[in-house]
Amino acid sequence: MSSEIIKTYENDGFTIIWKPKKCMHSAVYVKMLPNVYHPKDKPWITMENATTAELKTQINACPSGALSYEGQEQDSVDMINASLMENGPLLVDGKINLKNTKGETTTLSGTNAFCRCGASSNKPFCDGSHAKVNFKDD
Ligand code: FES
Repeated sequence: MSSEIIKTYENDGFTIIWKPKKCMHSAVYVKMLPNVYHPKDKPWITMENATTAELKTQINACPSGALSYEGQEQDSVDMINASLMENGPLLVDGKINLKNTKGETTTLSGTNAFCRCGASSNKPFCDGSHAKVNFKDD
């Protein structure tokens, strides 16, 4: 009887699950987060070098399922809906983590309108300026 090898890595209440036998060695993880994954080191995962949101995005892109995280199934159930408003903002409905250019993350929920026209004085959010600048979809 052989049992599957499963390793876990934890940081700040977030747990990554690693199943090495499932790995396809696509190296998606290294390309997306080179400061986190160092395949030749032990431990090879340095979770502190990325936010939880960044880790989740990368793990969701893992093609083999070798990397997963606790709560991943629930996250996939809570799908985010986004839609383009004609001649207006991008509407995003659901809980999201928004990281600014300084690396600070804010959790948003409900519906948020993100500027597409570039005229908002409250970027990245829409402030209605698209109407004043006569923004049009192509
Ligand atoms: S889309 Fe509304 S201000 Fe840009």
